[in-house]
Amino acid sequence: MAAAIQAELERQRNTLILIASENFASRAVMEAQGCVMTNKYAEGYPGRRYYRGTAFVDVAELLAKERCTKLFGAEHVNVQPHSGTQANMAAYFAVLKPGDTIMGMNLAHGGHLSHGSPVNFSGKMYRIVPYNVSLDTEMLDYSEMLDIAKKNKPQLIVVGASSYPRIINFKIVREIADEVGAMVMADIAHIAGLIAAGAHPSPVPYSDVITTTTHKTLRGPRGALIMCRQELASAIDRSVFPGTQGGPFMQAIAAKAVAFKEALTPEFKDYQFQIVKNARALADRLKENDFDLVSGGTDNHLMLVKLLKEGITGKEADETLERANITLNKNMIPFDPATPFVTSGIRIGTPCVTTRGMKEKEMVQIADLITAVLRDIKNDTTIKFVASEVQDLCDQFPLYPDLT
Ligand SMILES: Cc1ncc(COP(=O)(O)O)c(C=O)c1O
Repeated sequence: MAAAIQAELERQRNTLILIASENFASRAVMEAQGCVMTNKYAEGYPGRRYYRGTAFVDVAELLAKERCTKLFGAEHVNVQPHSGTQANMAAYFAVLKPGDTIMGMNLAHGGHLSHGSPVNFSGKMYRIVPYNVSLDTEMLDYSEMLDIAKKNKPQLIVVGASSYPRIINFKIVREIADEVGAMVMADIAHIAGLIAAGAHPSPVPYSDVITTTTHKTLRGPRGALIMCRQELASAIDRSVFPGTQGGPFMQAIAAKAVAFKEALTPEFKDYQFQIVKNARALADRLKENDFDLVSGGTDNHLMLVKLLKEGITGKEADETLERANITLNKNMIPFDPATPFVTSGIRIGTPCVTTRGMKEKEMVQIADLITAVLRDIKNDTTIKFVASEVQDLCDQFPLYPDLT
């Protein structure tokens, strides 16, 4: 096992990771996540536990809640969800009955499995009405969302995405929901760090419930949390425990508290704005290199490259780029003619390379390296050349230099 962990460290150090949902947590976050709190059962909530010996894990959970509340300005926070999908499950269980109607973004247009995919519990337990991006702009079409909402009268509108490169207008979504008497749940898993820093508008004033993972742009430990209005606080808490989870992962909660403290610093704010500047620089260069991007660009931390014109699939692209030590993922593009396993696009995100300290200049270089591989996809010499350039770039921006 030690050898596999060491090999994974070397892989992270020596590849350009452009997976939009990944990041590199700080040493402090990783140390908290590997601490003795992993040994502790603490079912319940601070001050109301079903186990003895919880004084110190209570400190961790109270700190995590207090810091998270400060970071996002929410009225109530539950920091116990183990993952984004579990947070969404607990949120649905708190505000819906089985068979109720959820309006969620179509998975093939950027939504998440837990927003109503038929293969996920959400699609099996609820009546799902999906909404799409517009065919022309490939951006959210709020007037179509209103029409769909009026026709289907959902109890809940879920807004948030796994692969949507543009600003989400939470205010308009609230207005749509109010017209039909629906609640709004914002799933900000991807953009939580941007929101915390003010690099994307906040859904807090416009949402009944907000869920997020803590390990993407937010750069915390793997995990999740739920925020809500005060009147939903006890329903949400009961839905997390005992509704859908048992003992909370106290080591993860300790690490969330550490990450929130980091996220409250001015350096974190600069980091988030740099993620966005880097994404824009990378997108602009790819466009100069004649690639088509979904919606024509990006406002956040990610972009989607359409490979239809190039005649290559997302699968061929991500496999070949991996051979050049560039790790990203194939992704459906809106109205994709290919299957989800093959796809006609790739998703590129800048959180990881920005954590390493790279800036716009390196983004231009990365765009050119991706271009070199995709324009010459069968050429092993090109792949080898790009791999050596990737190594140079990784060496210039060392990752976890003190970890051995
Ligand atoms: C928008 C969104 N919600 C929820 C999740 C689920 O998170 P997890 O993988 O922790 O279940 C993701 C993960 O990619 C996501 O992108």
